[in-house]
Amino acid sequence: MKHALALAERGRGAVEPNPMVGAVVLDAAGNLVGEGWHQKFGGPHAEVFALQAAGERARGGTVIVTLEPCCHHGKTPPCTDAVLRSGAKRVVAAMADPFPKVAGGGVKLLRDAGVEVEVGVCETEARRLNAPYLKLLGTGRPWVHLKWAMTLDGKIATRTGDSKWISGEESRAKVHQLRRRVDAVLVGRGTVVADDPLLTARPAGLRTAARVVVTASGDLPERCQLRATAREVPVIVYTTAANAEKLTGWRADGAEVVPLPASDTGLSPNAVLADLGARRFTNVLVEGGAGLLGAFLDANAGDEFHVFIAPKFVGGDKAMSPVGGRGVELMRDALELAECVTEACGGDVYLHGFSPGAVISAT
Ligand SMILES: NC(=O)c1ccc[n+]([C@@H]2O[C@H](COP(=O)([O-])OP(=O)(O)OC[C@H]3O[C@@H](n4cnc5c(N)ncnc54)[C@H](OP(=O)(O)O)[C@@H]3O)[C@@H](O)[C@H]2O)c1
Repeated sequence: MKHALALAERGRGAVEPNPMVGAVVLDAAGNLVGEGWHQKFGGPHAEVFALQAAGERARGGTVIVTLEPCCHHGKTPPCTDAVLRSGAKRVVAAMADPFPKVAGGGVKLLRDAGVEVEVGVCETEARRLNAPYLKLLGTGRPWVHLKWAMTLDGKIATRTGDSKWISGEESRAKVHQLRRRVDAVLVGRGTVVADDPLLTARPAGLRTAARVVVTASGDLPERCQLRATAREVPVIVYTTAANAEKLTGWRADGAEVVPLPASDTGLSPNAVLADLGARRFTNVLVEGGAGLLGAFLDANAGDEFHVFIAPKFVGGDKAMSPVGGRGVELMRDALELAECVTEACGGDVYLHGFSPGAVISAT
């Protein structure tokens, strides 16, 4: 199963909104005779590749798979058919698939046909692997990555708003890698005004993330890179119903303007996420600035953190720190990341961790 999990990981960024799945086939004597993984959205499932590789040697053997085999006609035929045709006598799955058209149906179908089925081997690891898929299915909202680069004195820009560049080339390359595997990159209006970012992945990858701007006021610049390229790479602007008409020009240039109900703190991050989830976006990346990151942290809406710390000082009371918003009053209420690891990234330090809530719900 550990090997099947490692195979599944190879599909990260290519299979979503499907889950990552890996499979191995053992012959009747326990020799590994086939392996496979779900390689891209709409393509064959892991079991199909593994069983194809095993051929006749699967007869009487075992299929080990990281997720319950599907039993419905989706973009491909049911995997349970392939398992039954193979003559395998046993299936070991890491976890049941909560996808409503499966949800235990695959296990039942196989058992009814006389196949011995065991579920729950390495389940924690399998749930962690597919935490974004499980979150989207369970809550209708995508998995939220929060990212920023800061100086050693905790600033994301100088007092004049200049932020190019805080981190080094290796760190920026890592951010582009992340952009290549998410469905959307989000920024607040302040970042559009200060940085005029393009927010694309360079070089481009398998997946093209939509560029998303959150602005309650709707006061976006008339000229900027996002608007100028909205027909090439999708741009979505979330604003209030009252201010949506200010964005007629953006709409005419190809951006999608989505009005959402306003609250006293602007738009609710969860309302933005619900709309992104309805598009079946599985992973989204919030890149700043301080206002938007603060709103997401106040709403406890972050799952995974990517922080780049550069060995530089810019100083200045007016220079921004990464997270604005309301914040907490007491240290005991501080959000403490779980499973935090740090590594060198060129001359910077890269810190990666999870919101404790995200870790608990994934296990
Ligand atoms: N180092 C880094 O990693 C990094 C990354 C990004 C940005 N930056 C820097 O950050 C600075 C900008 O920071 P900032 O705090 O001004 O920028 P920001 O978060 O990009 O923009 C703040 C604006 O975003 C909108 N917004 C945020 N949360 C909202 C919510 N919940 N509902 C509705 N609208 C919301 C509001 O726009 P309205 O006023 O229109 O309502 C708010 O004024 C710039 O200097 C930039 O260079 C640094």
